Amino acid sequence: MIRVDARKLTDATASAFLAAGCARDEAATIASALVEANLYGHDSHGIGLVPHYLDDLREGLARAGAHVRVVRDDGALVGMDGGKGFGQIVGEEAMDIAIDRARAHGVCVAGVANSHHLARIGRWAEQCAEAGLASVHFVNVLSRPLVAPWGGRDARLSTDPFCVAVPHAPHPIVLDFATSMIAFGKVEVAHAAGKPLADGRLLDAEGNPTRDPGVMFAERAGALLSFGEHKGFALAIMCEILGGALSGGRVQDRAPNPNPMINNMLSIVFVPDRFATRESIAEQIESLASYVRASPRRSDAGIMLPGEPERATARDRTANGIPLPPATCAALADAGRRAGSDALARLLQ
Ligand SMILES: NC(=O)c1ccc[n+]([C@@H]2O[C@H](COP(=O)([O-])OP(=O)(O)OC[C@H]3O[C@@H](n4cnc5c(N)ncnc54)[C@H](O)[C@@H]3O)[C@@H](O)[C@H]2O)c1
Repeated sequence: MIRVDARKLTDATASAFLAAGCARDEAATIASALVEANLYGHDSHGIGLVPHYLDDLREGLARAGAHVRVVRDDGALVGMDGGKGFGQIVGEEAMDIAIDRARAHGVCVAGVANSHHLARIGRWAEQCAEAGLASVHFVNVLSRPLVAPWGGRDARLSTDPFCVAVPHAPHPIVLDFATSMIAFGKVEVAHAAGKPLADGRLLDAEGNPTRDPGVMFAERAGALLSFGEHKGFALAIMCEILGGALSGGRVQDRAPNPNPMINNMLSIVFVPDRFATRESIAEQIESLASYVRASPRRSDAGIMLPGEPERATARDRTANGIPLPPATCAALADAGRRAGSDALARLLQ
């Protein structure tokens, strides 16, 4: 592992997207959103995606310069199309619109269909929370199926992320996870490192439990399992239906080929203080936090609220740099060079 300064990594990554045909602002936004995911500890949704994104741009599966388009406008309900634009741009523009509508109407239900990868969904919930709004996000992913249905032997679903955030000072409460036991990027990380995964995460191509991450990269691939047995699977189905179908997008079995890395998202964004005052909500969050933290510890790990682990990792990585394995550095350098920029190679090699 080498540790890389977040600012330098952002600038070098932006150079690669600029060389690949993105506008300067677009390149900077994509780069800073990806590096932010690494800062928050979600390497599966960070800088390691750069080669995939640049490949998609080259192949026309992602579009530079695309902006979100309102395709259906009913005031508090607004349907948008991302036009395969980079999710870092589409997501931010879509949330800007949803925030305006929620301020005007108290609530906005926003469908965002056909965005290129929206990456870390918490970023969109945090954008709403910064505007003082609570939000819930159901997301599906059109890619090759990765996750087995509960009771099934092969992959039929995506990692279907789910996210909720509530504004709170000094930091919002942010739940943001894939409905699979682990994100696919974490399988890639284990595979690259030649490390087995823990029990209960994977099935092989025959549908038998395995710890070998390699099964996800074999010609006949295995499958990830949902978290929480039937509960994660049931939530994934709702992410498919709300995020995929109700958003104006498509559900998993309607994914076009080749593997497009498209996200569809249904977001419910609303003012949090219509039924209770901001003061009473803040006081109840604080009292709940103290109450749960007072539980006798089963281990040295502290008791945290959703969003806290990411902030702790961000403090460390901002101060000490983002750890990157040699294979990721080499892939980034190569992807940057292929796009016409040697900035990543100069930084990482
Ligand atoms: N765009 C996509 O298609 C897509 C698909 C899947 C996942 N993702 C993203 O991948 C990222 C990682 O997902 P994941 O499933 O690996 O996340 P994860 O399993 O690390 O869970 C993260 C969530 O759990 C909370 N958490 C973690 N430890 C905690 C603890 N000890 N106490 C309390 N809360 C705790 C975190 O604050 C966060 O809300 C997310 O940002 C998600 O949005 C995106």
